Amino acid sequence: TSLSGLEDWDEEFDLEDAVLLKLRGRSLTKASLSVWLVLALGGIYTVIQTKARLTAEEWGENYFLVGPYVESNVRTQVELIEPTNPVLKRTIDKMNASGCKVLPHLHRKHNTAAEINLYVTLKDKVYFGRWLIEGSPYVVLIDVAFSAWSLDTWKSELWELCDIGVPWFDREANDAVLFGFLTAWLLGEYAAQSEEPPHIVAHFHEWLAGLGLILCRHRQLPVATIFTTHATLLGRYLCAGNVDFYNKLADFNVDKEAGDRQIYHRYCLERSAAHCAHVFTTVSQITAVEAEYLLMRKPDIITPNGLNVKKFSAVHEFQNLHAQSKHRIQEFVRGHFYGHLDFNLDKCLFLFIAGRYEFSNKGADIFLEALARLNYLLRVNHSDVTVIAFFIMPARTNNFNVETLKGQAVRKQLWDTAQTVKERFGKKLYESLLVGQLPDVQKIIDKEDFTIMKRAIFATQRQCQPPVCTHNMLEDSSDPILNCVRRIGLFNSAADRVKIIFHPEFLSSTSPLLPMDYEEFVRGCHLGVFPSYYEPWGYTPAECTVMGIPSISTNLSGFGCFMEEHIADPSAYGIYILDRRYQGVDESCNQLTSFLFQFCKQSRRQRIIQRNRTERLSELLDWKYLGRYYISARHMALAKAFPDTYMYEPTEPTSVSHVIYEFKTSGFSYPRPASVPPSPALSRHSSPHHSEVEDNDEEERYDEDVEAEKDRKNIRQPYALPHT
Ligand code: UDP
Ligand code: G6P
Repeated sequence: TSLSGLEDWDEEFDLEDAVLLKLRGRSLTKASLSVWLVLALGGIYTVIQTKARLTAEEWGENYFLVGPYVESNVRTQVELIEPTNPVLKRTIDKMNASGCKVLPHLHRKHNTAAEINLYVTLKDKVYFGRWLIEGSPYVVLIDVAFSAWSLDTWKSELWELCDIGVPWFDREANDAVLFGFLTAWLLGEYAAQSEEPPHIVAHFHEWLAGLGLILCRHRQLPVATIFTTHATLLGRYLCAGNVDFYNKLADFNVDKEAGDRQIYHRYCLERSAAHCAHVFTTVSQITAVEAEYLLMRKPDIITPNGLNVKKFSAVHEFQNLHAQSKHRIQEFVRGHFYGHLDFNLDKCLFLFIAGRYEFSNKGADIFLEALARLNYLLRVNHSDVTVIAFFIMPARTNNFNVETLKGQAVRKQLWDTAQTVKERFGKKLYESLLVGQLPDVQKIIDKEDFTIMKRAIFATQRQCQPPVCTHNMLEDSSDPILNCVRRIGLFNSAADRVKIIFHPEFLSSTSPLLPMDYEEFVRGCHLGVFPSYYEPWGYTPAECTVMGIPSISTNLSGFGCFMEEHIADPSAYGIYILDRRYQGVDESCNQLTSFLFQFCKQSRRQRIIQRNRTERLSELLDWKYLGRYYISARHMALAKAFPDTYMYEPTEPTSVSHVIYEFKTSGFSYPRPASVPPSPALSRHSSPHHSEVEDNDEEERYDEDVEAEKDRKNIRQPYALPHT
């Protein structure tokens, strides 16, 4: 099966175009230039949050994020302050003072003017503060609920303007209308309050924020606009619906498909924002092709998603963190499998899949199928490895189930019992030594100790298997993961070498069950498995990489394609890329099974070496490098919106004095590692005394340091940072 259009995309869409912005007549720093980022509600939180530091470093006081005001989040994440920028202060004051109408429960007929005024002055609709994340960027937060009274007026204005009718029952779209009109008002007011005409760049993310962009263009505001779609609406819906998406991309009747799914108005908002933008971007090449067919505009540039990479001063620190977090996961497993702990925890591998619960889009379907096949392979090969696969995907639940909570309680009780007996034992031992005698080992544990230990052991008896799901599911009988588990029969029985734990809630360090945040959990696992069918980027495997945890992604995900492009032999670095593009589901499933089985055959030494290699790829995913695509997008937009002032030339720059940014994007790639790849077949032992059982850590580290040095010499460095 071939993927229509993707083959010739590379040539036409070259990320390595040199980007040049020339400034005519005025210096960039003197121009009143602000960058505005309008963020969407929901899913792209990680992009916006992690990118903020780099953008704040670039634009300093002129960088503002604009988002919806959500009181609970503001209380914990935002420090509300007075705006420092006088123009912005005037803008916000004006918005809060003018045009404020009363909420429905405060009405002129029933409330006095004083009451209404009091409420209006107490309750602003625009807030300003610092978002307490890395880079502490300024945020302008808009309370959409406070303008709900304008919804009908604004909806009819939208209808008059571009024939987009938003139905009353679509709450998210209604919020998008309010947010759109309010952001356009904010930007327009800012321009009106400025003494000299400002040059504003506004970057709008996702369809939910798109209306603000459409209105900016319609009102001809002095704003250079960028629209980024992180996934197309229609793409997500079509893929989830069991459609041969990539082969049929060119054939979809987009209006009909959107209409059939009752998202026509959302689709129209997304498509108009893409077309109105000065610069349109997507997060990966695969989504660029999708956008071209579904939104009918080819993106101007691809802006891949990055992360803020933490570098530890000790090279092996991330390995220590893995060991610490793994011990915490092991503790959870001890409780979860109480009474059935008939496998060796030290030979237990933790695999996981995480993200929004889109069963087939995220590839949970083929992961389960591959786990069933892996179970068979491990059993027939008499492997002593046990695999525990975690599914972290939020679904509707009625909280934790009793059996799961009981498991942790039983584990705690066993721990307490062991501590009590240990203390008594220690005391008797101490007293015996004090009088110069060796204790009588037969008597040192007395009858009472035996009784409490026996009671504790009896408490671990269990009639049922360890549960597959940690929560009470609201839709248990129709849940796709549970139904698939029922079909493949992986019920955590003693004979199974593959066990399954479905945690239908995102992780939190305050959970009574598994008190770890997501980052700690990922660090403690051995392999992230993300065999997605629809994945515009895929933060989860990228996060694994920067934490030094190997992962499986696919050549239908933005991340997988990006890594394939930049690394000669990704699997040698622990980046397994599953082919879901050119082969059928069954073949992909076999390939996934083979990846998993090979992974299970690795020794501890090989896993450690592989983790070190994976972690070395971090810089590839760092915003320090990937942020430059956002910079290019802003420059392109400025040049299009203000052609008299800025010029964008996608060619190699000449030595012109007023050149302010130069990108020499010669590109880079990671070659095959110089040393032996950590595949079980090829790996050799560097010490003649090496034992197959487990390796000595110090020795592992020494070997790995030598290996790392060899690899380092072989790696071409990423291209130099642009000089500004
Ligand atoms: N995530 C989280 N807590 C969890 C599991 C996942 O915060 O318990 C986050 C994870 O860090 C990642 C995001 O959810 O940033 C999932 O992003 P991805 O791009 O993989 O998928 P999307 O949800 O955008 O489809
Ligand atoms: C890290 C630690 C080692 C530990 C190893 C376990 O490398 O530094 O002390 O032995 O993790 O690796 P494993 O893949 O078996 O969890």
